[in-house]
Parts: sequence; C-alpha cells; structure tokens
Amino acid sequence: MKILAIESSCDETAAALVEDGRTVLSSVIYSQIEEHRLYGGVVPEIASRRHTEQIAQVTRRALEQGGISLSQTDAIAVTFAPGLIGALLVGVNFAKGLALATGKPLIPVHHIRGHIAACYLAHPDLKPPFLCLVVSGGHSHIVEVLDYTYFRVIGRTWDDAAGEAFDKAARVMGLSYPGGVQLDKLAATSRPGTYSLPTPKVEGHPYDFSFSGLKTAVVNLVHNANQKGEPLDKAALAADFAETVAQVLSSRLMAAAKELGYRTLVCSGGVSANSQLRAKLKEKAAKAGTSLYLPPLSLCGDNAAMIGSQAYYEYLAGNLAGMELNARASLDVSR
Ligand code: KG4
Ligand code: ZN
Repeated sequence: MKILAIESSCDETAAALVEDGRTVLSSVIYSQIEEHRLYGGVVPEIASRRHTEQIAQVTRRALEQGGISLSQTDAIAVTFAPGLIGALLVGVNFAKGLALATGKPLIPVHHIRGHIAACYLAHPDLKPPFLCLVVSGGHSHIVEVLDYTYFRVIGRTWDDAAGEAFDKAARVMGLSYPGGVQLDKLAATSRPGTYSLPTPKVEGHPYDFSFSGLKTAVVNLVHNANQKGEPLDKAALAADFAETVAQVLSSRLMAAAKELGYRTLVCSGGVSANSQLRAKLKEKAAKAGTSLYLPPLSLCGDNAAMIGSQAYYEYLAGNLAGMELNARASLDVSR
C-alpha cells in the first residue's frame, strides 16, 4: 500500500511516499528555518504562509521522486494534531482536497505517533510493545507503545519540553535558532564537570520531567557572569547542560523500563538527534541488557515519511477521516 503523507505542523513543509509503513519511496522537506531564525523562533503566521506557498510544489516533488502519479497512490495521510494551528490547517486542507479529488481514503495522523513511527522506517525488526522516550521542541513524553495505535503516556514534562529547554539555553548563550543543534556542536568541543546545574525531579511522579529550573539556572549563570564582567566558558556550560538533560531523560526512561519490565526501548523526536543523549542511552541500555532503537539523524526532526509510516497502521486499525476533518493544536497521543 502506497501512502502519500503530508506534514505541516510547525516550520517544515513536507511530503513523502511510504509503502506498507516501512519503506520510504520518497521524502521531501522544505525547511523554513532560515527565515524564522531572523526572529529567534518560529513566527506562526509566517509558517502558515510558507506552507501555503510550498505545499503543492513539495508534494509534486515527492510524487516525482517516488516515480508514481497521484492516482497511483492508495491513500492520503496528514498530520492533523498537535502543532501550530494555522500551520496544521494548511496541510489538513490540502490533504482533504487531494482526497476529495482522487476519492482516496484520508488518514489523520498524530504528530507524536509519527515521531515514534520514524523508528519503524529505520528498523524493520522493531514492533510494539516497547517503551518510547519522545523528545521534541514541543513534547517530552515517556510512552508505552502497547500496539501500533494503542499508547499510554506514563511520563511527561510539567513545564518546558526538552527541545524548548535546549533552544532557550542556547539563545541566552548567544547561539542562533534553533539552538539545540548548535548547543550540541558547542558541547562537543568541551566536556561536562565545570558548572553544577540542578537535576530537577517532580515529587511523587518518578517518570515526569521539569526543565524550567534547569533553564533558569543557565539564564542566571549567563546573566551573573555578564553583569560581573566575568568570563564564561560557554562550551563547558553547553556540555554540562546537555549532560544534565541527557542524564535526566535517560535515567527516567531506564527507571520506567525496569519498573514495567520493558526490554525494548526507543527514543525519537528532534532531541533524539542529540549526541550526548544518544551516547547515554546506548551506554545505559547496554548495561541493562535492553535493546535500544534510535532513528537515523535524518528521521529525528520533522518529516512526512514518519507520518506515512504511522498512517499505514492507522489505516489497518480503521482510523480514517471524512471531509469534516479539522486540525487540533493539542491532543493527547493516546486519543
Ligand atoms: O521534532 P522536532 O523537529 O519538532 C517538533 O516536533 O517540535 O524537534 C525540534 C527540536 C528543537 O527544539 C531543536 O532544537 C531540537 O529538536 N534539536 C536538538 C538537536 N537537534 C534538534 N536538541 C538537542 N540536540 C540536537 N542535536
Ligand atoms: Zn516534531
């Protein structure tokens, strides 16, 4: 089954062709990052306008690169939640138009479910049940993937998402948007152990996260140094920050896996590209004797191939939409 998938939840306009949930026939991404960088973050209205301009062209290229015509696809899939509402609406409306014109089934896909499915594309042997750490710019969740379309969230952030914390820490350190990847590069030039940063816990919720205190600690360190005119070793601070986030995320995941008896672990989402997090997860999984699946860097960030993968399983489960489909800015991954 060949699914044409559309993704427009944030600042990437993407389309892909995916066969039977596991094989990427084509994947095209138009990134708006350069434009949003001028403003230090995503400007929702600009994102919507660029999606509107790019989506037809991106989709045409995905079909061309996949070597099939629109009429040869079997279904149209689209990210309908969660994300920037104006951005989502562009993709949802475009996908509805394609489904209406072709008479193909329309498959609504939850963005976080898509991030989890990114690992199906890279690892043919991976199948549920498994425990997944999903860490992106908007979400930090520990999710039990009980089946392809059956999820239970057992841990979540109480404030900032991990990617948001990376971006805010990077910004105060003078790195350009999106700061996560810049901070990762800077951290690689140093090593942790210079700055003592808090590792926040949420009392009574062993698998939950809180990153705002950590972010504030970095902001205060930078501001104090600036005010006093003292030198700040930014690379060392980046290394300590990334080390702390990687430690918090990996320790919660490992604790949940041990408690619930999971032997298969997955990490996905934009922040799963972080080198310290990947290294720490590999180290801990090897020590615990559990298997660990990570997406390749090309599938960590937003793309439509992951949406096409999850869409296949949504289709098999009968989760289709009609022309009344609407976008949702927020929606739990288990709904
Ligand atoms: O999944 P994603 O592309 O978009 C959302 O669904 O939010 O995640 C984007 C987030 C941004 O906050 C970005 O800074 C972060 O992922 N990110 C990283 C790295 N690469 C991307 N954070 C830390 N280290 C990285 N290498
Ligand atoms: Zn995402």
